[in-house]
Amino acid sequence: MEPFEPELLPPQGVNLIALLPLIGVANRAIATLDGLFYGIPNPNVLLSPITTQEAVLSSRIEGTQADLEDILKFEAGEPPKEQSRREDIHEVMNYRNALRLSEKMLEDKPFCLNTLLKLHSVLMDSVRGHNKARGQFRTIQNWIGKSDCPIEEAAFVPPSPIYLQEHMNRWEAYWHSEAPDALVQLSVLHAQFEILHPFNDGNGRLGRMIIPLFLFEKKILNRPSFYMSAFFDARRDEYITLLRALGAPGSWTRWSRFFLEGITVQAEENTKKARAIQDLYERLKKQVLDLTHSQYAVPLLDFMFERPIFRSSDISHLEHMPSTPMIATLLGKLKRNGILHTVREGAGSRAQVLALAELINLCEGKNVLGTKSATFNSQNTSSL
Ligand SMILES: Nc1ncnc2c1ncn2[C@@H]1O[C@H](COP(=O)(O)OP(=O)(O)OP(=O)(O)O)[C@@H](O)[C@H]1O
Ligand SMILES: [Mg+2]
Repeated sequence: MEPFEPELLPPQGVNLIALLPLIGVANRAIATLDGLFYGIPNPNVLLSPITTQEAVLSSRIEGTQADLEDILKFEAGEPPKEQSRREDIHEVMNYRNALRLSEKMLEDKPFCLNTLLKLHSVLMDSVRGHNKARGQFRTIQNWIGKSDCPIEEAAFVPPSPIYLQEHMNRWEAYWHSEAPDALVQLSVLHAQFEILHPFNDGNGRLGRMIIPLFLFEKKILNRPSFYMSAFFDARRDEYITLLRALGAPGSWTRWSRFFLEGITVQAEENTKKARAIQDLYERLKKQVLDLTHSQYAVPLLDFMFERPIFRSSDISHLEHMPSTPMIATLLGKLKRNGILHTVREGAGSRAQVLALAELINLCEGKNVLGTKSATFNSQNTSSL
């Protein structure tokens, strides 16, 4: 099988007129999400679990088994016994680190190919990324196919490494160009990135990561918190089929239509989830204040939203917190009232591990930890 010869960007034959209705709908969905970001008083705190959940979902497409609860427990000093699970957690945490780093990097300078190399380096910082030329574009011919299949049996052979840098330069120039529609431009950037397959590994994850970055840089979103992995995972076969068809007549328009639908679906999902988290925060704030009448209630709640599974001893390390016995009294009240859930009882010098179960269930979209209240349901949560 010969290496694929990709189209030079911008691709010809994107039928913008045919895409117009979907462009309108996708833009409205994104604008609603953006509006919500403006209204959230403490987005870093409230959106933090959504970022972790995206790291979990995007890494799951690659095949890692870790879930949100595994990550949060690990952070609370509860690692799993199996080595492979620990490696999975490491991969997810790398993904989240790369996401957070990307946000910081864009504050300092515009996106460029070096940003991409840096993110790849962070993503591949693990045992599994050892031989994967971390932070470098590939210099070898790669191919996509069943695990360990020879190139003759490949489903797709990306362009030769000889032309890769040139294609990446064009890709970067297209990123910064003024295209007729930014969302269609983004659909092209994602697809062309996957076609070029510039790295030995991690192309799927980086291709998904650049989506919020582009929207942030183009000022379509005021925060790069928009995630599409759930859609790509749910519609994986269609996603791959459409990518594989690129180059055929009408293929770019079909691909962009699919991508725009993904933006709409995910913007609506992300909005629902962010709104539900915000509602939960407001409800718990009131409840915790009523229960404790404490000046520490809100800082404590903020901490729990950022770290929904934690050791009680983690709190005493925070600034401006009361004495350990006072913290124990506060946590005891929250436990008795069903706000906190015990993951592990304390024993001797080992601190107890607690969870804000409702927040985790809401992010996961199902009941993973015992809680009195219902799982994520936008109708429920908005009336809380
Ligand atoms: N026929 C194809 N043409 C172009 N790109 C493809 C094709 N099939 C799959 N892909 C892309 O390749 C990605 C996988 O590449 P790679 O293994 O380098 O990335 P990853 O991040 O390690 O894996 P994953 O995407 O499974 O998480 C897929 O996510 C998809 O975006
Ligand atoms: Mg891979």
